[in-house]
Amino acid sequence: MMMPIAHADPPGSSMIDDRWTAVDRYVTDLLIGPDPLLDAALAAADAAGLPQIAVTPPQGKLLYLLARIHGARTILELGTLAGYSTIWLARALPAGGRLVTLEANPAYAEVARGNVAAAGLADRVEVRVGAALDTLPQLDAEGAGPFDLIFIDADKDRYPDYLSWAIRLARPGSLIVGDNVVRGGALADDAEDEPRALGARRFHELLAAEPRVEATTIQTVGEKGYDGFTLARVRD
Ligand code: SAH
Ligand code: DHB
Ligand code: MG
Repeated sequence: MMMPIAHADPPGSSMIDDRWTAVDRYVTDLLIGPDPLLDAALAAADAAGLPQIAVTPPQGKLLYLLARIHGARTILELGTLAGYSTIWLARALPAGGRLVTLEANPAYAEVARGNVAAAGLADRVEVRVGAALDTLPQLDAEGAGPFDLIFIDADKDRYPDYLSWAIRLARPGSLIVGDNVVRGGALADDAEDEPRALGARRFHELLAAEPRVEATTIQTVGEKGYDGFTLARVRD
């Protein structure tokens, strides 16, 4: 019998079915293949002691495919870590495209800059250091937008604020992706009052109340456990 998944489990912490990991590896081997630059980025992250919380290879490829399908020329990312998802997204940019990624931790940002440069993407990627709630208004004041695709993956309790900023920095038709919003099922558990779960729920309540976007959320399993992501489109 399969054990039920404890809804309070944060992503990746436990209760990961071996089949989820096996299928992620199967898909990675067959459809993604070896990628020395991405492997090097993860190795550099490990060497610097960064937490192992980057998107998985199949999720990274999904981000890349979404950006390609959407024809994104400008991308904004909240939460860089070592730049693993950054590299996937930046590879989808056409010539002249640009990606800005926001990271609060200066040491993480340095690792990310090294990884982005090693991947040959330094010319189109800016890693901006600071709390996103400080750097987002800076970007706005600079007229840096609009961004065609915005990937929200920073501190989970602030997703509602990040959604408001994402919409402000978007254009009609922009795609907004929110990572880690299902949180082992905590999203739908009214009794769950953990700040990150509350952030995910308020993020959904804001999406529901926001006439400028249309959205859905997809649950996922994989080597990082049971979680999910939101896809939202800014209406015309
Ligand atoms: N997108 C990355 C993973 C990001 S993990 C990948 O998939 O490869 C979340 C990141 O958000 C961490 O690096 C953390 O330092 C950063 N972060 C946390 N709070 C933040 C804040 N207030 N502003 C900007 N970044 C923040
Ligand atoms: C965490 C952050 C992430 O972006 C993620 O995908 C998984 C975990 C975290 O902060 O624990
Ligand atoms: Mg994430």
